[in-house]
Amino acid sequence: MKLSEELLLAKKLLENNKLVAIPTETVYGLAANALSTEAVAKIFQAKNRPTFDPLIVHVASIEQVNRYVEDFPAPAQALAEVFWAGPLTMILSKKSIIPDLVTAGLDTVAIRIPRHPLTQKLLQSLDFPLAAPSANPFGYVSPTTAQHVKQQLGGKIDYVLDGGACEVGIESTIVGFPEGKPFVYRLGGISLEAIERVIGKVNIQSHSSSNPQAPGMLSSHYAPSKPLYVIKNQQEAKKWLHKYPVSQIGTLMFKEYLPEIPVQNQIILSTKGDFGEAAQHLFAGIRSLDRPNIEIILAELLPEKNLGRAINDRIRRAAVVHQSFD
Ligand code: TXA
Ligand code: MG
Repeated sequence: MKLSEELLLAKKLLENNKLVAIPTETVYGLAANALSTEAVAKIFQAKNRPTFDPLIVHVASIEQVNRYVEDFPAPAQALAEVFWAGPLTMILSKKSIIPDLVTAGLDTVAIRIPRHPLTQKLLQSLDFPLAAPSANPFGYVSPTTAQHVKQQLGGKIDYVLDGGACEVGIESTIVGFPEGKPFVYRLGGISLEAIERVIGKVNIQSHSSSNPQAPGMLSSHYAPSKPLYVIKNQQEAKKWLHKYPVSQIGTLMFKEYLPEIPVQNQIILSTKGDFGEAAQHLFAGIRSLDRPNIEIILAELLPEKNLGRAINDRIRRAAVVHQSFD
């Protein structure tokens, strides 16, 4: 296999325990050799990520998965057949070759086979898997372009492999199998409905801000620096119009503009109401509204089905730090 110059450079850096941001179909990842504690430690440092939050290990193929997991239960195999390579991560019991730092000391490892062609090639060319969280500072919105990564982590990482804008736009769906039963730990690029079509009814583990035992389920996450308020419908937006000048209000809407707000302050996720397109535009939309002249962001929830569930999850978590639910 002949590698482009960019891929050769990425490969060489990773082989030298450096950090490389990689494109995946979901979001950009901040990658390092998953078998090297020294390399993985740099990920936590660059992201300012607490070490109790474990990382996803990316591999090229199912054959490679078997090198790193002890057990591949039947429902996991069924999901792998349908959704790998793709935006699905599975939590499986780990082999000891995976360092404890990657899994935060858990005896399970999160595994994913990404389908972005550049990263597929890169993984096939390496003789180790890649640990990669989303390539954003801990707690901020995930990056869906190489520019997003450079803006925030540029000075802290060795290289960004540019694979264009991410096709899916939200992170992978995470499924675990505690005591053999499937659980969705994080909604993402594969809908709950699609998963249930393959393995039947699945429970969802709710978010927690206080239980780091449920890793990555911290409820305040994906937050822009300006307060983001969830609105259930256009009507609900009205009450904000008296509190701020309309020029200082930004909106993230599903299909239609709010007539009262200047259009340049508004992001429409999908004029045709397509969930996939909405997911693609979500994080770039939040980022673009996170700018100096805008004081608050109003974000409309989508219908709670298919990818709408995962999109609503991200919107709620982008909002939660600025609201008091207690
Ligand atoms: O789409 C994605 O999943 C992207 C791309 C880069 O692959 N990655 C990503 O990684 O979103 P990150 O680190 O931002 O989110 C991974 C989540 C974290 O919430 C972490 O707590 C959870 O996966 N996780 C990792 N290992 C786990 C484990 N053994 N048990 C439970 N959750 C785990
Ligand atoms: Mg993340």
